[in-house]
Amino acid sequence: MEVISTYVKNFDRELGGGIPKGHIIMISGTPGTYKSSLAFNILYHSAKRGIGSIYTLLEQSSDSLLVQMKRMGYRLDGKVKENLYIADLGRIRQALTSTDPKRWDTGFRKYVEGLVEEKLPDILVIDSLPVLEILSYFKNRREYLFHLFSWLKGLGLTTILVNEKPSITSPFGDEDFLADGILQTALKPIGGSDLQRQIRCIKMRAMDHNTSWFALEFREGQFRIAPAI
Ligand SMILES: Nc1ncnc2c1ncn2[C@@H]1O[C@H](COP(=O)(O)OP(=O)(O)O)[C@@H](O)[C@H]1O
Ligand SMILES: [Mg+2]
Repeated sequence: MEVISTYVKNFDRELGGGIPKGHIIMISGTPGTYKSSLAFNILYHSAKRGIGSIYTLLEQSSDSLLVQMKRMGYRLDGKVKENLYIADLGRIRQALTSTDPKRWDTGFRKYVEGLVEEKLPDILVIDSLPVLEILSYFKNRREYLFHLFSWLKGLGLTTILVNEKPSITSPFGDEDFLADGILQTALKPIGGSDLQRQIRCIKMRAMDHNTSWFALEFREGQFRIAPAI
């Protein structure tokens, strides 16, 4: 099984090797738990190795993400600039011909298909699924998600969906059943007054993965896991 590395030190082996190529996985968790940073981390290190990717950021501008990534020490030049394409909402809106909200979803898909044809990437990130849902027009969420995942599968890329969850105990949604893999991130209380960012793999089709929680740390420009406290 060909895999894509997470570039999180010691984590790939807990996944049974990494993220299987062509799978649709989710990074799911509460706010501030490094979901976007992790997605970016994968694309960044892949880009350095010549692997192309598209990061669709469904925020008005990519400034806040890029400022944070630069502050974390990621350098957006050379091979990264060449291989990692960031499409923020401003850019996506500019490319859409119709302003009819009922057509937004079709427009978005056409736009992504065009980018895929042009850039021939291996990895696609959608940040985030809840925002994509807000922008899209649908009557039935289950049907909408089913079509979204079929469309993604048809693109043939490795896809990372960032999924914001309001709380760690949020119930599973249809997306959790449709995704090939789920990485869950959380902030856990440790000691009396501190919080620790943690990660675990609750699902990774085709892989013999660990399901334990690990501490997720970012130090000296690198993500790593450590035993959870
Ligand atoms: N320079 C930095 N080094 C390490 N961590 C940082 C740095 N800048 C921001 N962070 C942390 O990253 C967290 C947000 O990460 P992000 O990936 O945007 O989370 P999410 O997408 O899950 O909401 C913030 O809570 C912040 O504490
Ligand atoms: Mg985020």
